[in-house]
Amino acid sequence: MFSPHGPTLRELAAQALSSTRGGYDLLAPKFDHTPYRTPDRVLDAVAGALRPYGPFRAGLDVCCGTGAGTGLLRALCRERVTGVDFSAGMLARARTAHPPAPGRPETHWVRADARALPFRASFDLAVSFGAFGHFLPAERPALFAGVHRALVPGGRFVFPLPAPPRVGSAPYWQLWAFDTAMRVRNALWRPPFVMYYRTFRLADVHAELSRAGFTVRLDPLEEFGRDSGGAPRCRLVTATRR
Ligand SMILES: C[S@@+](CC[C@H](N)C(=O)[O-])C[C@H]1O[C@@H](n2cnc3c(N)ncnc32)[C@H](O)[C@@H]1O
Repeated sequence: MFSPHGPTLRELAAQALSSTRGGYDLLAPKFDHTPYRTPDRVLDAVAGALRPYGPFRAGLDVCCGTGAGTGLLRALCRERVTGVDFSAGMLARARTAHPPAPGRPETHWVRADARALPFRASFDLAVSFGAFGHFLPAERPALFAGVHRALVPGGRFVFPLPAPPRVGSAPYWQLWAFDTAMRVRNALWRPPFVMYYRTFRLADVHAELSRAGFTVRLDPLEEFGRDSGGAPRCRLVTATRR
């Protein structure tokens, strides 16, 4: 699947029948050859938007996986960068992909559940890429509260948020079909694999971040263009700890 180095269909099926964490442990060796790894184009756009506000002191990559966002933080932060994820397999790959290097900040890998982040006022920048679909809406307050706790006052939690596809378009139905299949799978099979594309909606997320103590700002990421009505296809969400 995806490329000669990517997972086979059988391996993807085994992953999909595991828990979220177990599934990523299985996928880890081939994860960077799947489209689930955040593409460099997205990382570059976010780095470009953050650069004018840097350099930052210490950065946190929430649900770092194999370290796509951690690499970005290593270029933007001076002192220390931390990647946190609950999959030991993904963290092992991240550690190999981002070894210590002269001129780069010290880098730590922490195995923890993002719903109970173990940090307090330690970072001035937190990012997250490609992971919000793994959290049920009811779990987001704990996630956002943990990021808020992890940041110093004035610290920023930054992530890209693509606009949802137009209702009735082909991508709309693809995501709808994926989420429906996941709901059926999770109703019939234990342990659950939590991944839904259509639950992380801007209006809800904006309100939840505000309730968690953030001031929220939205900026278009112009690299991804605009739809026919002029709305940005992708926004950068910057939630600043009040
Ligand atoms: C699609 S991958 C994205 C990885 C990376 N951020 C990227 O953009 O390439 C999602 C990651 O979220 C992690 N994850 C999902 N739920 C988590 C949780 N509750 N706590 C910590 N990590 C979690 C998974 O282990 C996986 O590494």
